[in-house]
Amino acid sequence: MADIFSTINERTMVRKFTDKAISEKEKRAIIEAGIRAPTAGGNEQWEFRLIETPKLKEDLRGLLIKAQKAYFTRMLHKPWTEEAVKNWFGKMGDDIYKAPLYVAVLVDLRERAYTIPDVEALWAQQSAAAAIENMLLAAWALGIGGCWFGVPLLMEKEFRELLRLEEGLKIAAILAFGYPKEKATPKIRKKRYEDVVKQL
Ligand SMILES: Cc1cc2nc3c(=O)[nH]c(=O)nc-3n(C[C@H](O)[C@H](O)[C@H](O)COP(=O)(O)O)c2cc1C
Repeated sequence: MADIFSTINERTMVRKFTDKAISEKEKRAIIEAGIRAPTAGGNEQWEFRLIETPKLKEDLRGLLIKAQKAYFTRMLHKPWTEEAVKNWFGKMGDDIYKAPLYVAVLVDLRERAYTIPDVEALWAQQSAAAAIENMLLAAWALGIGGCWFGVPLLMEKEFRELLRLEEGLKIAAILAFGYPKEKATPKIRKKRYEDVVKQL
């Protein structure tokens, strides 16, 4: 098993996967790594929904592609043209985002622990983000790639309907997991240590 620093340094988002299934053991190890993340106040206000049935996966993938297009064309200050989006998806190939396993990471605020709702919601989101990174790293250590999707927040209503989410649950992210189809090269950061670290 790789040591933690090589796992952190080598991990990168994977957007194309092979058909190889993720075993029950691997799946459990990944989710349990999420559950082991720090959680504000020890409140564990999260839920992990596994999406593995073919029809639901297909519909979810379709929505992810739609939401990613919305990101390129509507969210960026310098939006992409339809042509640029088409080229990007063309370059990525027909099987982009097609994964053996998707996990919806949800924030569950149906039971409140605190008197300040905004701070509680933020802490619950941050705890979910810690769980997500734990899962991505655990997966990577097992040779499994993952992708973190924030774009469902751009089309929340559609995703909520598809996943049939109950009131009080919020989507933190959707994750895709699978064995990487291509060799994944870690992405270089634009900002170096000296750019972001300040001595007080
Ligand atoms: C909060 C958050 C939301 C993200 N949402 C998306 C997404 O919707 N689609 C996607 O392809 N990648 C998404 N990413 C992945 C980032 O694009 C990726 O982490 C970044 O480009 C750095 O690449 P690396 O993780 O491979 O080092 C997201 C990452 C984070 C932390």
